[in-house]
Amino acid sequence: MCGIVGIVGREAVAGQVIEALRRLEYRGYDSAGIATLEHGRLERRRAEGKLSNLQLKLVQSPLTGAIGIGHTRWATHGRPNETNAHPHATARLAVVHNGIIENFRELKKELETAGARFETETDTEVVAQLVSHLMDQGLGPVAAVEAALPRLRGAFALGFLFSGEEDFLIGARHGAPLAIGFGDGETYLGSDALALAPFTDEITYLDEGDWAILTRDGAEIRDIANQIVARPRQKIVSQAFLVDKGNHRHFMAKEIHEQPEVVGRTLAHYVDLAGGRIALPEALPFDFAKLSRLSITACGTAYYAGLVAKYWFESIARLPVEIDVASETRYREPPLDRDGLTLVISQSGETADTLASLRYAKSQGQHSLAVVNVPTSTIARESSVVMPTLAGPEIGVASTKAFSCQLTVLLCLAIAAGRARGTIDAARERALVDALITVPGLMAESVALEPEIEVLAREIAKARDVLYLGRGTSYPMALEGALKLKEISYIHAEGYAAGELKHGPIALIDENVPVIVIAPHDAIFEKTVSNMQEVAARGGRIVLIGDAKGAADHGLDTLATLTMPAVDPVVAPIVYAVPIQLLAYHTAVFMGKDVDQPRNLAKSVTVE
Ligand code: AGP
Repeated sequence: MCGIVGIVGREAVAGQVIEALRRLEYRGYDSAGIATLEHGRLERRRAEGKLSNLQLKLVQSPLTGAIGIGHTRWATHGRPNETNAHPHATARLAVVHNGIIENFRELKKELETAGARFETETDTEVVAQLVSHLMDQGLGPVAAVEAALPRLRGAFALGFLFSGEEDFLIGARHGAPLAIGFGDGETYLGSDALALAPFTDEITYLDEGDWAILTRDGAEIRDIANQIVARPRQKIVSQAFLVDKGNHRHFMAKEIHEQPEVVGRTLAHYVDLAGGRIALPEALPFDFAKLSRLSITACGTAYYAGLVAKYWFESIARLPVEIDVASETRYREPPLDRDGLTLVISQSGETADTLASLRYAKSQGQHSLAVVNVPTSTIARESSVVMPTLAGPEIGVASTKAFSCQLTVLLCLAIAAGRARGTIDAARERALVDALITVPGLMAESVALEPEIEVLAREIAKARDVLYLGRGTSYPMALEGALKLKEISYIHAEGYAAGELKHGPIALIDENVPVIVIAPHDAIFEKTVSNMQEVAARGGRIVLIGDAKGAADHGLDTLATLTMPAVDPVVAPIVYAVPIQLLAYHTAVFMGKDVDQPRNLAKSVTVE
């Protein structure tokens, strides 16, 4: 993930931009850069590595412009060197970017055909060249950005500075956060309120799809349909800067909405996006090719992520997986191969049962790989290799963004295992990586279902019991959906393999039991339709979470159909996490529950 900043100031802004970037360094520090207008002309200073290297350059070669943009980078496309450091520019404009432009390759080809000459390997430069190209065709800066934004796919935030334009900047948000700060004759753009804290406590967060023209008098905000809109201004109290809820009522809501960005950030840490292949951040102290099986152990939501991963490791890498909840593993003491591999998954990295299972596995001579969200945690420190999720602090007790980041890391590991074991070739690897690259944008698109889900939640809130059904990787998602609902709304909910319904649970079905069916249109969709028919025949009320193809095919009356974007079945579990999380969230909110701190629960269960 990267940090972006922009300032339309009253005097030289370079020092303020650096100060704001320093507060964003937690987002990445592979390189940093700044662009200002010096007598109307674009000037850049960029440096590899820490922000202090950029500061040195500014001492040697100062910038005095009163308008500028800045960036601190976590490399996604292209090596972390000065050439690839933002801002990226043409003669007409400079741009800073956080996130991933999924369709950068096709846009780059189109622009090169039109005569554009690229200097870098980055997806960001495509944005600069696209806007520049549109301006070459006669569009002004604002019109060119307006025309360019709908061409970009993925989850991103952008900041634009135009040559000769001393009085405005443009910012755009599509799946990654962006805030506007209001000062006295100055206006600021930043990836979060923390970055702007030194200058103002009056903040507006852009909504999904918004873009804004910032001037010294304030900002004109336009929505995704280019209609001028007003977004609420809020006072951010100082102590809240570190972890604030943004525009959201609850941390859980904020963390659900952060998923496109944090999944994109996690993805970028494991994938060579330009090369279309997995590039794990650390060498592995074992060889997947030499493993006869993989053991996975975790608790709760992390366990369900592991269950999904079982399908991926077995189908992609043909690696047999044994998985159990950690509270069982630690006492069952399964026989484990020396030099085998145990994979532990934990958001907190402190869960007692998971830690105990890790220690048991190590006592059996196993290698241990930890997928954790806190790299300094006990589980991380005691594992032979750590593959971090980059979800950022997860405050809501119900795990959301950590879960989708866990799935992202686990799929990357399964693909790496497939490559190592020779069960997939380079073409299949690229296809799988291409599917992964679409995930942040699809998650951002899925959030658009929220209004429908909010209405449906009112119905679910009336239920005493709810069933979740799924097949294949949608089965663990059914378990996760049931856990999300029960732990924050306190409604009894159970997840089942859809094929298991007729072996008992169908006795529960009547008009009082909503049945949530998770079913993207994949190879087993028809089988799940049969289960839906069994439910309908007994008066059960069905909620289908599927796609347009599935919605058109099943031919049944449903309580509701949540139509998701078409998704590659391999990555469906990651994208489908969004609707199941939102359904649980809005049901609990409607019921007036304490969503962020549900009764009887704790964020990290460090006791048995
Ligand atoms: C998930 O929503 C729950 N809060 C809980 O099941 C959690 O996933 C479990 O306690 C494991 O926590 P960990 O990921 O920190 O190990």
